[in-house]
Amino acid sequence: MKYRKSIRFLLNDQAVHMDDVAASQTLLDYLRLNARLTGTKEGCAEGDCGACTVLVGRLGNEGMNYQPVNACIRFLASVDGCHVVTVEHLSSAGEALHPVQQAMVDFHASQCGFCTPGIVMALYALWMTCRSPTVADIEKALQGNLCRCTGYEPIIKAAEAMGRYEMQRPDPLHQSRERVLRQLQEWQDGTRVVAGPDDDLAILPSSLNDFAACLVENPEATVIAGATDVGLWVTKFLRPISPAIFTDHLTELRHIAVDSDCLSLGAGVSYSDCESQLAAHYPHLTEYWDRIAGWQVRNMGTIGGNIANGSPIGDTPPVLIALGASLVLRRGESRRELPLDRFFVDYGKQDLRKDEFVESIRIPLSGTGQRNAAYKISKRRDEDITAVAMGISVTVQDDLITSCRIALGGMAATPKRATSCEDALTGAAWSEASFEKAADVLRHDFTPVTDWRASSEYRMLGAQNLLRRFFLEQDASTQGFVRLNEVRALRAAE
Ligand code: FAD
Ligand code: FES
Ligand code: FES
Repeated sequence: MKYRKSIRFLLNDQAVHMDDVAASQTLLDYLRLNARLTGTKEGCAEGDCGACTVLVGRLGNEGMNYQPVNACIRFLASVDGCHVVTVEHLSSAGEALHPVQQAMVDFHASQCGFCTPGIVMALYALWMTCRSPTVADIEKALQGNLCRCTGYEPIIKAAEAMGRYEMQRPDPLHQSRERVLRQLQEWQDGTRVVAGPDDDLAILPSSLNDFAACLVENPEATVIAGATDVGLWVTKFLRPISPAIFTDHLTELRHIAVDSDCLSLGAGVSYSDCESQLAAHYPHLTEYWDRIAGWQVRNMGTIGGNIANGSPIGDTPPVLIALGASLVLRRGESRRELPLDRFFVDYGKQDLRKDEFVESIRIPLSGTGQRNAAYKISKRRDEDITAVAMGISVTVQDDLITSCRIALGGMAATPKRATSCEDALTGAAWSEASFEKAADVLRHDFTPVTDWRASSEYRMLGAQNLLRRFFLEQDASTQGFVRLNEVRALRAAE
């Protein structure tokens, strides 16, 4: 096996080669303390405020793919083979500002300026893909950027205008694209990287098979995919993570496939990667997906990581359990398939051996008569932690509920199915009375805790009301109630 000890990446227009990169070193610390690129700020150091936003570009099937990410929770080792772009790359001293920057100036979109580089980078990523964004596009792009003093109106106005500015000089990424592509292709040498000191070791497997082998060799290792959980273990809890096996670069783990009855997502597929496939096959997940974290975290965080962390308030397990998803778990060369609801054994305990990993998630496609919904209750609409999440999937034939799967997060020590509620609905008539009964028996399924996010009573009532909402939204005759979809349409038109 060939090993490489150094990592290499492009930083703006410079090639960087580094030996001894410790697993726990963050990209933000490297940028600010080593490269002295202090335009990238540190606010929260936990992926919430967006002050540290940079672009990370990777080689994809269609050339370079640049995405905004949070440098504070991104580990330096994980940018091996990437192009890292900071705010300094947009314009140097004495040069005309980039249209995104000029629009921010012209619309007075910055006061203290602390958030501004991060906002510029998020808007630059939007500008690259869309020159005339809607307010909804802009709000979505800025979900992960907190401005405490300017207020968002001038920022949104600047974002609406940025695509109309004439370029005073070529866009730096457009200009360098061929050179960047060539360099990154040249660096794809198919070797395993083992970097850093023994007590802070970073391992980047050369392939999916190599990842499986690395984990068998190092069963105590911390697997790091998007690092949106693990990053905080380091920046907030100073937890050791060595040896760390990074998987973000493994394209085989980002594979998405659809066959006649199932959508299969590699465990390394990020929220952003699968957005369009989910919208096509499970349209009810579109709005729900937008409410998971902010854009930067959705670009980094993976579905496999959200499941493997075993959190009782992870947003994907309830909706995937309701859809009947299963996991493909891999250990060395052997694989087993497990229904997702059986993966969560108890708080902090999953049916996963130390040397085993989640390889993919298989989600059955919806059948005839299937009605699905996904709900999240949190204090804020955007970028907030869930108090209660519900996935519900009901098949109705001739006004009879023939099958039903309901799963909730935030109501127990693990994401969990509401089995009494499912039993009450299965075989029952599609009627308001059936859902009232289901809401009543939900009390047999859960005894939620009270914490700073929500009280036990609030969680229970919220979950019961989600069942009622499901009926009202899905029923053909709403019996005098205004359909929520119509309310949404009215709001969007305002
Ligand atoms: P990592 O941090 O890389 O890993 C998480 C855990 O999974 C680790 O234990 C790791 O070892 C393990 N792991 C990763 N991949 C595998 C694999 N293939 N096999 C076995 N184990 C594996 N979550 C929500 O659900 N909803 C939210 O709204 C939300 N908002 C957030 C907002 C912010 C600002 C941040 C920082 C996080 C938020 N999260 C949210 C949490 C986080 O983004 C998700 O849990 C994410 O999906 C984790 O994926 P990751 O790839 O980043 O995991
Ligand atoms: Fe707040 Fe990184 S410093 S998101
Ligand atoms: Fe001060 Fe945004 S300008 S935080």
